[in-house]
Amino acid sequence: MVKVAVLGASGGIGQPLSLLLKLNECVTELSLYDIVNSPGVAADLGHINTPARVTGYLPADEGLKHALTKAHLVVIPAGVPRKPGMTRDDLFKINAGIVRDLATGIAQHAPNAYVLIISNPVNSTVPIVVEVLKKHGVFDPKKIFGVTTLDVIRASTFSSEISCKDPRDIRVPVVGGHSGPTIVPLLSQISPPQSFTQEQIEKLTHRIQYGGDEVVKAKDGAGSATLSMAQAGARFASSILDATVKGKAGIIEPSYVYLEADNEHCANLKKAVEGLEYFSYNVELGPGGIHKIHGLGEISEHEKKLLAAAIPELKLSIEKGISFINSKL
Ligand code: NAD
Ligand code: LMR
Repeated sequence: MVKVAVLGASGGIGQPLSLLLKLNECVTELSLYDIVNSPGVAADLGHINTPARVTGYLPADEGLKHALTKAHLVVIPAGVPRKPGMTRDDLFKINAGIVRDLATGIAQHAPNAYVLIISNPVNSTVPIVVEVLKKHGVFDPKKIFGVTTLDVIRASTFSSEISCKDPRDIRVPVVGGHSGPTIVPLLSQISPPQSFTQEQIEKLTHRIQYGGDEVVKAKDGAGSATLSMAQAGARFASSILDATVKGKAGIIEPSYVYLEADNEHCANLKKAVEGLEYFSYNVELGPGGIHKIHGLGEISEHEKKLLAAAIPELKLSIEKGISFINSKL
């Protein structure tokens, strides 16, 4: 029995993400929670002839508790999206409280679940979830993931437009966090190897860092990336299920995760990022969640500068998330 819960399931991301999860044959129960419309989305998806039983919950009648109880995996796309002119950090005011309340529900009703956090600003919402779980004594650093998959997907797509290769065959590690200058593409480590001019590197880097803005601008007030994010979220969820349910080894996904102080696998990475508590890099998944966090490897001078610019901003966003919980709970 594999129950997956989506919190914020009626939204722009929530609906297509729930559709893709309904198509995942590993899922036997899909539990959809939102403050509006979730029973309708559940009824609609429930007619698709795949194994998952679909249920929809609203806040009334302990909906969050029922949505979460026995969940193996919880995906959180709940919260407001950006409009043109806004930064992701501008969403903190509303989304921090939403994510805190949902994390409290997870701590109480699904303390062993794997949790994927999509709600922005990811650089702060992941520390918020972790602090809530810590307060309830149920934090497992191997199970909490900030979803930065879309940055890596964008990096493949945008790079392929220069190299004219199939984007699915291109992998570019993207490290740091998930907002503007904290998004650090390591184009020097592109696979298969490819050389770019400095001008191409700078243009590509900027496009990957501000890919989200491209969509926000094109949607012109109607929100931010939803469909590409749903695909990215479903890919990550599927990788988690492959590793933790099917026992597949060697799966690597990028993710913004907590760097444990005493874990030998993150020691070098933590040193390279000036002791940051959270950082996004390639994470190798195993049967218990995070098996290993890969190091940065060789990076170019240009990438060193990008990293140096990312670290102070990441530090501020992390502290903002941590102090939001510690001053309010
Ligand atoms: P949306 O407004 O279309 O949907 C959000 C949904 O959350 C709505 O259905 C709303 O009712 C629901 N919601 C609000 N408060 C809730 C609560 N307390 N409990 C449960 N559900 C609640 O927004 P969207 O376009 O789906 O974006 C959602 C979030 O994802 C935004 O914060 C956005 O910035 C973020 N996002 C992140 C990435 C990423 O790469 N990590 C990519 C795209 C968007
Ligand atoms: C994205 O990268 O598309 C998301 O973080 C949404 C946004 O606000 O840009």
